[in-house]
Amino acid sequence: MKNRSLMNLFLALPRPLARGAYALARATVLRDARLEIFDTVFGRCAKDGTTGDYLEFGVYRGTSFVAAHGASKRHGLGHLRMFAFDSFGGLPNSEGVFNEGDFVSDEDLFRRIVDKAGVPSERVHVVRGLYDDTCNPQTKQKHGLERAAVIHVDCDLYTSTKVVLDFCEELLQPGTVLMFDDWYAFGDDSEEMGEAKAFDEWPLKDCFDVLYDRPADQCKGFVMTRPADGVRAAAADVSSNG
Ligand SMILES: C[S@@+](CC[C@H](N)C(=O)[O-])C[C@H]1O[C@@H](n2cnc3c(N)ncnc32)[C@H](O)[C@@H]1O
Repeated sequence: MKNRSLMNLFLALPRPLARGAYALARATVLRDARLEIFDTVFGRCAKDGTTGDYLEFGVYRGTSFVAAHGASKRHGLGHLRMFAFDSFGGLPNSEGVFNEGDFVSDEDLFRRIVDKAGVPSERVHVVRGLYDDTCNPQTKQKHGLERAAVIHVDCDLYTSTKVVLDFCEELLQPGTVLMFDDWYAFGDDSEEMGEAKAFDEWPLKDCFDVLYDRPADQCKGFVMTRPADGVRAAAADVSSNG
């Protein structure tokens, strides 16, 4: 919701009305193409019986977070914990079309929006800070993070995505869905920049198959189909055999 007076009006509405208004706006005038993608993602988790947490890296004002909540509920997964990782300070550096400081938000605004849009507060776990400071074993221990059902990478930048993917390695299981929101954000250079470049350099990329590929919406998503141990062992084998 970009328009500030529209946002203030929404935040002033009583909760049930706000939830209805938000859902209506997202289905019509402020339609978010990602609604369908979230249905694909949580539909896949439901079909595979994948459980664990929903982790979103880059939540800004909560648009995709709310969409994820709605889709998870529609597929019987409304009990999964939802983690919001963000500094709320905007992008920490520039890359291609993205500029340092884009998407500055604030945690309180994020919490108010997702609350008014109908995400129960007990589902919402905010991990605030730069990924360099929060993507560490202490955060995993503090929140009991052990398994991810869905990892949503929406932090745009190569450097941020590198840190996120390393952090998530221990949380993967066959069935984990890995979503990239800005895979095609850099036009013809997309494979050499941003989220796509970080994924390409990630040792565990071969554990995943493509789940959806939507250049028109800039998104690409994968599902883990092979356990990490097998891929690591194969890589070690190749290097020891020269
Ligand atoms: C494009 S916005 C997220 C949009 C949101 N998912 C939505 O659909 O409305 C990108 C977010 O990533 C966050 N971000 C990017 N790199 C980060 C980093 N290294 N540490 C913490 N937050 C980061 C920014 O603060 C920003 O809120």
